[in-house]
Amino acid sequence: MNARIVLLPGDGVGPEVISAARLVLERVAAAFGHHFHFDTRTIGGAALRQGSNPLPDDTVAACLEADAILLGAVGAPEFDDQPPHRRPEAALLQIRQRLGLYANLRPARVWRGLESAGPLKPEVLARTDVLVVRELTGGLYYGEPRGISSDGELAWNTMRYSRGEIERIARVAFEAARTRRKQLTSVDKANVLETSRLWRNVVTEMAAEYPDVRLDHMYVDTCAMRVALAPASFDVILTENLFGDIISDEAGAVVGSLGLLPSASLGDGTGLFEPVHGSAPDIAGLDVANPVGAILSGAMLLRHALRLEPEAAAIESAVAAAIAIPRRTRDIGGIASCSAVAQAIADQIGNAQSS
Ligand code: NAD
Ligand code: IPM
Ligand code: MN
Repeated sequence: MNARIVLLPGDGVGPEVISAARLVLERVAAAFGHHFHFDTRTIGGAALRQGSNPLPDDTVAACLEADAILLGAVGAPEFDDQPPHRRPEAALLQIRQRLGLYANLRPARVWRGLESAGPLKPEVLARTDVLVVRELTGGLYYGEPRGISSDGELAWNTMRYSRGEIERIARVAFEAARTRRKQLTSVDKANVLETSRLWRNVVTEMAAEYPDVRLDHMYVDTCAMRVALAPASFDVILTENLFGDIISDEAGAVVGSLGLLPSASLGDGTGLFEPVHGSAPDIAGLDVANPVGAILSGAMLLRHALRLEPEAAAIESAVAAAIAIPRRTRDIGGIASCSAVAQAIADQIGNAQSS
């Protein structure tokens, strides 16, 4: 297969983890006889520093033409005092909206050998394998009106959801549950928020179309507690934008490190794939970032955008093997560098194909 993949390394550790993911994707291409054409573009703080908008027009054009997009992270402390549209993060919000990427899949599982890497007892963590389905183009992130008064004394945002927005993300979650353990937990704050009341009603109605999926509803505060107390009790979590942002970081910490989590952002057009973590300015440039989240995002790209399931599975097996060796970065108790872990994972792919 020939595929065009736009790389958006972005800020902080973004370039380090994207180099790692590219190395692994190149190894997959060689092993399976594909040709991936990589087109690297600017986004976020990197674009702002060049005097451009956080999301330059040529970056958008390249993304629209691509078969898939792989993004590192955006965000840099030097822009923290800028207004929202002059911050690196604006680029991510804009590209999600421009490409209609309403469905964000964030899987988190415990890897063999990492049962003790996180804060939980191994017996609590055992068998944890959860998929957070996060709504990505609605809610508080995009709702109008939003603003801050000219004297800076008052600020407001709007949480807004339509039936259609809820239905399309719920459908993604029901369908995902069907391919897994058929258990869907819809997470909301229906005891307080009207948007959550609508969310709960719509999801409940849709359950009639999915009699094979067990549906339950949970308040988001309870969910946060349950993810820490009994992570293995979840299969698929369906939730709105901000709740999903928070619960997925928590899931990362629970399975050992935020640096392990990949994600896929899907809509009707080109998909965007990115690790769940941010630009991690505290460790940027040190070659110590965990590249696994970005590498597994590459696997999700192969699976969801290019429909290359055996190739995606090969990356996941290679990650499992490298973690078992063990070749690990320091966030999960190892001493290996980001680039050494990437090399170890790439070598596993070579081994598996030639043996
Ligand atoms: P962060 O995710 O960048 O980092 C949180 C903590 O996790 C830090 O201690 C960091 O060192 C650690 N960490 C993150 N990724 C890691 C990795 N791959 N390996 C090892 N450790 C890792 O969150 P933050 O510090 O709150 O935010 C930093 C910047 O990133 C901010 O500007 C924020 O807006 C941005 N951000 C961007 C994205 C994105 O691009 N998708 C996501 C989250 C945050
Ligand atoms: C994420 C990030 C983004 C979000 C920020 C950087 C806009 O935290 O992808 O999880 O909140 O969606
Ligand atoms: Mn986040």
